[in-house]
Amino acid sequence: MMNGLQEWPEPIVRVQSLSDSGVSSIPDRYIKPPTERPSFCHLIGSSSSSSSESSEVEAVAEADVDANIPVIDMSGLQSEDRRVRAETMRLVSESCREWGFFQVVNHGVSPQLLDRALQIWREFFHLPAQEKQLYANSPKTYEGYGSRLGIQKGAILDWSDYYFLHYLPFSLKDYNKWPHLPFNCREVIDEYGNEVVKLCGRLLRVLSLNLGLKEEFLQNAFGGEDIGACMRVNFYPKCPQPELTLGLSSHSDPGGMTLLLPEHQVTGLQVRKANSWITVKPAPHAFIVNIGDQIQVLSNAIYKSVEHRVVVNSGKERISMAFFYNPKSDIPIEPAKELVTPDSPALYLPMTFDEYRLFIRMRGPQGKSQVESLKSPR
Ligand code: OGA
Ligand code: NI
Repeated sequence: MMNGLQEWPEPIVRVQSLSDSGVSSIPDRYIKPPTERPSFCHLIGSSSSSSSESSEVEAVAEADVDANIPVIDMSGLQSEDRRVRAETMRLVSESCREWGFFQVVNHGVSPQLLDRALQIWREFFHLPAQEKQLYANSPKTYEGYGSRLGIQKGAILDWSDYYFLHYLPFSLKDYNKWPHLPFNCREVIDEYGNEVVKLCGRLLRVLSLNLGLKEEFLQNAFGGEDIGACMRVNFYPKCPQPELTLGLSSHSDPGGMTLLLPEHQVTGLQVRKANSWITVKPAPHAFIVNIGDQIQVLSNAIYKSVEHRVVVNSGKERISMAFFYNPKSDIPIEPAKELVTPDSPALYLPMTFDEYRLFIRMRGPQGKSQVESLKSPR
């Protein structure tokens, strides 16, 4: 099944080494076509030239500057006041339907642990190249230190390096594939994973109830105790020509649910809302939660897995930790029977996550084309 995924099609270049070399222009392989560049406006690109429409376009562009994804205080779920609990549930529900994204604060994971984890990874990416090279990854499993996603020869690449590792299932957790430096990093990475797994379990219960399903529905659909959990730490070096490239191309996350912890001092993540890109302004110590393709399928598209991308800048590097909470890899994922009615027939055909994720591993990030291709032919 993994044929064709054994090796990279071209020698790997670390984006960090390009950035550190002080070049003033980026190599052609990182230059995106004009329609994918950060400043391309979808609204202008797709609208006609009538003057009333162009003033509408300006209004939208202006409103976007202050827009942000919803920020939800999770302590509201434990409030003594029933109305506060209900309102918190409602906000989560609305965010899952309208945005596919929200931030959570007061989520129960200690801010010190979040800071320590980010600091560990900052130090890792600043180790000498030969230390990092010990963990160079291959497209066979993607575990380790990497600089591209997808194995298409000649593909246009993103301006980022990353580190990918598995937490669950236990059989895939391999400390030898985790970095050994900086000192004690494995303990911190482990503790971070344990805490985030617990938070993901809590969030899945909220999502299940909001869909009108039993509290344990999504967790059980993911395989109960046998879920998958992995992390990609993204490193976006400074870029001399940020207007020509992206740190991460537009994609929707293939898995179940993602909890992203970015450095909150540097922005970069953009979320698609209708035809524009909203720049996320992270709250300190907040997780950014987003619905992945598997929950879009299980919820029969009541919840949306929304496209997002990362822009880079010339002044500051940026680190983010993306924690992916996924279904067990070999069980078929399909719309919940409870959500399928004559009026809302099943929109997707069943597929295991193992089969599903091969697509992004071969072709790299490609917007939402994959979940669209699962649509059942009715
Ligand atoms: C991802 C992702 C966003 C970011 O890793 O899937 O979307 O801000 N990351 O790094
Ligand atoms: Ni993503």
